[in-house]
Amino acid sequence: MKNNIPHIPVLLNETIDLFKNNMNDKGYFIDCTLGFGGHSEAILKKFPDIKLIGIDQDKEALEFAKQRLSKYAKRVEFINKRASEALEEISGLKISGILADIGVSSYQLDNKERGFTFDAESLDMRMNKNQKFSAEDVVNFYDKNQLEEIFKKYAEERRYKKIADIIIRNRPIKSNKELTDILSKAGMKDNKNLARIFQAIRIEVNNELKELENLLNNAEKIAKNGTIIGIITFHSLEDRIVKNRFRDWAKKCICPKEAIRCECGGNNEKGAILTKKPITASKEEIKTNPRSRSAKLRGFKFTKVENG
Ligand SMILES: C[S@@+](CC[C@H](N)C(=O)[O-])C[C@H]1O[C@@H](n2cnc3c(N)ncnc32)[C@H](O)[C@@H]1O
Repeated sequence: MKNNIPHIPVLLNETIDLFKNNMNDKGYFIDCTLGFGGHSEAILKKFPDIKLIGIDQDKEALEFAKQRLSKYAKRVEFINKRASEALEEISGLKISGILADIGVSSYQLDNKERGFTFDAESLDMRMNKNQKFSAEDVVNFYDKNQLEEIFKKYAEERRYKKIADIIIRNRPIKSNKELTDILSKAGMKDNKNLARIFQAIRIEVNNELKELENLLNNAEKIAKNGTIIGIITFHSLEDRIVKNRFRDWAKKCICPKEAIRCECGGNNEKGAILTKKPITASKEEIKTNPRSRSAKLRGFKFTKVENG
């Protein structure tokens, strides 16, 4: 934890760079994953004309960010909801930028009480504590097929059947700590493997991939011509969703694959991709913040949207 701030923003300069040509127009910047306000603080400081809406489903993070951004209070609104839901409520605003730095914060990951760590005394992993569904439900109540599915899909784990079986045989499991012990005894001692299993449970608990799809759907609905959207992801499943969506938005021709010639007019693009390849962290950043190692930033600029 640096200067009592529990999360270091990743790809900060690169994120500012992505938006910088669009930020002098007295518009709104929407930070869909406010977290501890690192990106938002930099945006507010650098672009004095911008107003900001900060969204986070985690009340604790939002309260922290409120304090941190208090000197910009007149320019900031806060929403404590899932980003996809919050975006549904936003209409009629001139939106300069939309950012989502998705996944969990270092605070959520490292704080034992939040139930994400290997040694946590609970089975929780909820980003939003108002949500009822938690890791307890997945680990103790999912059937074999459901468990196999999440370990196969979200952990890309080849021993998915074995892991599901071990969990079912050892129920009830009361904590992450117990789950870690059980998996270690079954031969999964490597932290990297364990992390992937935990990641799969976390993705399921927070419905992270579906939420990302919904966030992109709703971002498209509120985007204006000129709006830039930037998404930072931390694993390949998320990055693939963003890459494919930006590709779809950039498609000029939307005729079915089997069409012999183009009949759609060939001008259906909603804008253009700003990052041919995802932007990744520099060696220096990885050295100071190892969690930036897997971060990928992609950007898209809307120029032809219906409500633009
Ligand atoms: C990686 S952190 C963001 C850190 C932030 N950019 C900063 O610089 O402090 C992700 C934050 O987004 C929140 N979050 C993740 N997915 C969300 C979603 N779909 N809706 C709302 N909040 C979300 C988490 O609760 C967490 O606080």
